[in-house]
Amino acid sequence: MKLFPIAVASAAFLSGHLTVAADDTDDTDSASYLRFSFDKLYGSSYETASKRNKPRALLYKRADGTEEIDLTNQQSFYSVQLEIGTPSQEVVVLLDTGSSDLWVSSPDNPYCMSDSDMDDNSPFGWLTESVTASGTATGSSSTSVATIDCSKYGTFDPSNSSTFSSNNTAFSISYGDGTYASGTWGTDKLNLGDLNVSDVSIAVANSSNSTVGVMGIGLAGLESTYSGVSTSTTTQSYQYANFPIVLKNEGIIKKNAYSLFLNDANADSGSILFGGVDHSKYSGQLYTIPILNLYKSKGISTPLEFDVTVQGVGVSVGNKQSTLTTSQMPALLDSGTTLTYLPYSLTELIAGSIGAQYSSRLGYYYMPCPSSNNDTQIVFNFGGFNIATNLTNYILSSGSSGTCILGMIPQSDDSAILGDMFLIHAYVVYDLESYEISMAQARFNATSDDIEAITSTVPGATPAPGYSSTWSTTQSVTSGGNIFTVKSGSTSTTTGSSQRSSGSATSSSKSTSASSTTTSVKKNDGGKLVPTSLFVLFSSILSSLFT
Ligand SMILES: *[C@@H]1O[C@H](CO)[C@@H](O)[C@H](O)[C@H]1NC(C)=O
Ligand SMILES: *[C@@H]1O[C@H](CO)[C@@H](O)[C@H](O)[C@H]1NC(C)=O
Ligand SMILES: *[C@@H]1O[C@H](CO)[C@@H](O)[C@H](O)[C@H]1NC(C)=O
Ligand SMILES: *[C@@H]1O[C@H](CO)[C@@H](O)[C@H](O)[C@H]1NC(C)=O
Ligand SMILES: *[C@@H]1O[C@H](CO)[C@@H](O)[C@H](O)[C@H]1NC(C)=O
Ligand SMILES: *[C@@H]1O[C@H](CO)[C@@H](O)[C@H](O)[C@H]1NC(C)=O
Ligand SMILES: *[C@@H]1O[C@H](CO)[C@@H](O)[C@H](O)[C@H]1NC(C)=O
Ligand SMILES: *[C@@H]1O[C@H](CO)[C@@H](O)[C@H](O)[C@H]1NC(C)=O
Repeated sequence: MKLFPIAVASAAFLSGHLTVAADDTDDTDSASYLRFSFDKLYGSSYETASKRNKPRALLYKRADGTEEIDLTNQQSFYSVQLEIGTPSQEVVVLLDTGSSDLWVSSPDNPYCMSDSDMDDNSPFGWLTESVTASGTATGSSSTSVATIDCSKYGTFDPSNSSTFSSNNTAFSISYGDGTYASGTWGTDKLNLGDLNVSDVSIAVANSSNSTVGVMGIGLAGLESTYSGVSTSTTTQSYQYANFPIVLKNEGIIKKNAYSLFLNDANADSGSILFGGVDHSKYSGQLYTIPILNLYKSKGISTPLEFDVTVQGVGVSVGNKQSTLTTSQMPALLDSGTTLTYLPYSLTELIAGSIGAQYSSRLGYYYMPCPSSNNDTQIVFNFGGFNIATNLTNYILSSGSSGTCILGMIPQSDDSAILGDMFLIHAYVVYDLESYEISMAQARFNATSDDIEAITSTVPGATPAPGYSSTWSTTQSVTSGGNIFTVKSGSTSTTTGSSQRSSGSATSSSKSTSASSTTTSVKKNDGGKLVPTSLFVLFSSILSSLFT
């Protein structure tokens, strides 16, 4: 059964709506911003993801009576509805900061079921099924792979849009969850209410086994057209202006930057603000740190993903605060991952301080379920400022017995992924032009907006006072230090933008072996401990470097 509540026929199904607004401090060519609201959905796949499906541990009883827990597919999906072309066609896509291409399915995708395939009540349903199963469908052999109800999220037929223009170039992408899409690049108009954005590069997939298209808004270095490094073997590798860059090029926003507000754990929707910061959505100060380029030593000149440096972790229980470590480590901010993945030695320190124990049988940490108003916080330091995160948001109820699972998964290497359970606590501004992240503690329940456009540096943000760019991934996590004393007098730092080259440590963890030559980027974690897709991407770059 499909839990996902979208039904295409109804106009009220809006899974995301758009707000376009001009900055009111100026007139005609004033700085502006663009806001999308999106629905937050959780689950093992987009098909079965639901708003109601809050992250939880699934407990399975095996035949021998033992229990097994499955947390492997806790993904986060953010869906927005787009109107593409002239006249406009409605298509629901996933908003994704972990990839950089916008694509939609065409109606002739052979994976799309025909109406008769979908109609369970059809008197000829049995006939369709048997024909499909035997692979002898008349007309098209493609019937046998028809597994997706494409009408659910919509398809885009470029031949019906008078403004569509094909680039006649091939598109191909595959994601961490195993889905892929291939087709042809083109450009068309996105209709965003009061505003139309023309010449948006959109790939139309005539073959994809993903139920839903993707609006990748990540860094240009992750575009599927680009291989990262130019070599004689990688011909036709290039970057193009993806959606956020087009917004800037067309003057709709002034800088390729956006703010992501995931809202609190119980909220069904969040919002993304292109080109602006909403000061009402955070408390305290916005601090800026650089985005790391973990692949510099591999010949990649600019960052590909949103990695930052964590400079320490502590725990606050009641009014007692204790620092667990001040070891530095790179961490990927990934809104497509629900859980948090940390180096094993760090999860041990955290578990020890909150009374969680590792079960090698289950493969997870478990603990007595804290009450819903338990005020314990896990505090992450990013260089002179902290983001406090509620323990209760990392807790996955196993449904019974008063025992809960901790949504912090130990990693065998020293890499970290801060997913949704962390990110809901932070208001995060992604500056894709200056390669910087600004963060502050998120504030919920704001009654009115206080939006300011980003024209150069992020308004209201200041460089993190204790940011240090020196670390090594080979450093192991050690206990000690103090993250709760504000180190405002640190002298070793300069302004954020000059620190772009930080994080030059060799990455031993994310570029290891894989032999596929497919360009593959990350839509979500696909349940893997590390984004395997990046393995594939970088191994293909590496193999092109060394062959
Ligand atoms: C596109 O055009 C075809 C034929 O011209 C028509 O059958 C189809 O319904 C149209 N699709 C949409 C979404 O308008
Ligand atoms: C999609 O196709 C790829 C490649 O054939 C396959 O590995 C993957 O399992 C498929 N995924 C789904 C959801 O069908
Ligand atoms: C945007 O495009 C749509 C569809 O072509 C059109 O109906 C609408 O008037 C346009 N809006 C603006 C503001 O130009
Ligand atoms: C998709 O389009 C390409 C390019 O036109 C073509 O080579 C390919 O056969 C098409 N695939 C399907 C499944 O229709
Ligand atoms: C498609 O063509 C347009 C117009 O030439 C160009 O601006 C855009 O970068 C191209 N997109 C891709 C993905 O190649
Ligand atoms: C964390 O807990 C505090 C106090 O209980 C609460 O006000 C806040 O909304 C919680 N934050 C999240 C993201 O759940
Ligand atoms: C909150 O949970 C932690 C971890 O289980 C526990 O140590 C602490 O006593 C709890 N706090 C309260 C007020 O119950
Ligand atoms: C926000 O609103 C919700 C529901 O109205 C409430 O439970 C929560 O305590 C509020 N949070 C804050 C920080 O005021």
